[in-house]
Amino acid sequence: MHCIKKITSDLFWVGASDRRLSMFEGVYSVPYGVSYNSYLLIDEKTVLFDTVDKAVRRRFLQNIDEALGSRKLDYFIIQHMEPDHSSAIEDLIRRFPDITIVCNTKALDLAKQFCCFDIGSNFYIVSEGDTLDTGNHTLNFIMAPMVHWPEVMVTYDSTDKILFSADGFGCFGALNGALFADEVDFNKDYMDEARRYYSNIVGKYGNQVTALLKKVSELRVDMICPLHGFVWRKHLGDILTKYALWSSYTPEEYGVMIAYASVYGNTEDAAEILSSRLRDSGVKTVMFDVSVTPPSEIVSAAFRWSHLVFASTTYNAGIFVAMEAVVNDIVAHNVQKRTVAVIENGSWAATSGGLIRGKIGECENIEFIEETVSLRSSLKTEQLSEIDAMVESIITSMPASAVAAITPVSAGAQVQENMVDMAAMFKLSYGLFVLTARDGSKDNGCIINTAEMITEKPLRVSIAVNKANYTHDIIMKTGEFNLSILSQSVPFRVFEQFGFQSGRDADKFAGCGYDDRAANGVRYVPEGANGVISGAVEESYDYGTHTLFIAEVTQSFILSSEPSVTYQYYFDNIKPKPQPKTEPKKGYVCKICGYEYEGETLPEDFICPLCKHGAADFEPL
Ligand code: FEO
Repeated sequence: MHCIKKITSDLFWVGASDRRLSMFEGVYSVPYGVSYNSYLLIDEKTVLFDTVDKAVRRRFLQNIDEALGSRKLDYFIIQHMEPDHSSAIEDLIRRFPDITIVCNTKALDLAKQFCCFDIGSNFYIVSEGDTLDTGNHTLNFIMAPMVHWPEVMVTYDSTDKILFSADGFGCFGALNGALFADEVDFNKDYMDEARRYYSNIVGKYGNQVTALLKKVSELRVDMICPLHGFVWRKHLGDILTKYALWSSYTPEEYGVMIAYASVYGNTEDAAEILSSRLRDSGVKTVMFDVSVTPPSEIVSAAFRWSHLVFASTTYNAGIFVAMEAVVNDIVAHNVQKRTVAVIENGSWAATSGGLIRGKIGECENIEFIEETVSLRSSLKTEQLSEIDAMVESIITSMPASAVAAITPVSAGAQVQENMVDMAAMFKLSYGLFVLTARDGSKDNGCIINTAEMITEKPLRVSIAVNKANYTHDIIMKTGEFNLSILSQSVPFRVFEQFGFQSGRDADKFAGCGYDDRAANGVRYVPEGANGVISGAVEESYDYGTHTLFIAEVTQSFILSSEPSVTYQYYFDNIKPKPQPKTEPKKGYVCKICGYEYEGETLPEDFICPLCKHGAADFEPL
């Protein structure tokens, strides 16, 4: 049965996923499966971009039949002749004998090598810059040799600004019903597999990937359609940024990847102690037993981390077999610009350290930590100082800013409550905002003071909202909000209206005299505001009392040229000053924001209606 996905009004995904494959290309484990993407453009002419692997050929052919309907297939573009994308060529030619195959000369040569049938003579041979007009669309061909094979080319649809990127920007993992990267939590759930795919499939060819990125940077690209994994239609910068790092062999993070080979656990002891002491010093570490973890994961980690440590026993007077395979794989994938340290072990002739240094030294721009820790069967107490020296050398080789950023608070400098003066926090120029949301017919709003723009492309903002606010619950449910940016002309009654009562038992908008809504249908507050930002929540993070929402800006507009109000301005100029009293008032004052509670006793669970701090932050008047 067919299972197709509509991408645009005339572009369809006609690929399929395979969850039974154990080793992709016979080498790479794919525990989450893999997708083989093929795309069909239904224009005045119909165009297919690549086919699929033989494992999913049947579904693919059903998909094409469904997407084509009564149309015939006019063009078949071979971007990449590797069999995971070309196994259905014979089926296509038999079904559509008049089809024109669009490819470059290298792809044609490979097609003739791979195909054991007559592929005909109806070819449109293209080279860099050639185009194909299909009616409403113009397809531009861009050569991308060695990303991943020499014949690879990508196609740019200059009408819809779509890049068909062949293996580029691909990812391991079945699609599981989704198609777009923004339908899943890509950074959390798929970036590791994208890195493993990149580093193992095209990691060796960083220069060629860089050349392709340069060509792509001169185009406006609104969507990327790769041959594996998800289609990118939003936040393209997330994956483009990673590709810029990976292709230039720039570490993503400062930290240490420790790969160890240990027959009886003694080399593992040294690796564990090294890792533990690095962690104690605040350095991030990851560890892999090369006898257990597939090399592709270790290669991927080598692309991620700045420092690599290899700890290996000596075996048959050489490097332990599994470690030798990993080291060879790292060298073969052209890892560069790393700092490397080595621990060796050998009961009578320790040679593994020197051999590892020799092999890793074939990579470009490798800095070695000078001393190899050399064990005789097991780590002895007197050698702990050598481990400590290696820790020190690793830290010294990291930039001071990076080390400072990851150095934890030492035991003697624990953060103590009396060392934190909250007043210092309010020296930050917090603004004040009315945050509004809508649940069906119920409109609500509250005052917040933490909102900021975090990225420009795409335009994103963050807001932190106390969970005690009803508005918080509505945003968790609907994912929509408006932020009315308060100006210096805002009257105190706006704070009373939205800050001093709960929307759970009051209508926050009662008697306000305005009923303005943004395009998202959510009300905003024009009174005393100078601008409005509408947000659609992409992610939320739980921080105990508050939730941090990350949202894409869907609309924004200016209401006035009044300067924005700051927390300081509010206290100095808007909040009414206490009136002199003939008798001392009984009550409590919030040490954070100055809110006064009148009464003999302050309830233990009292929450300041203005700043949302608890009873512990109040003191008697
Ligand atoms: Fe997905 Fe290079 O083939």
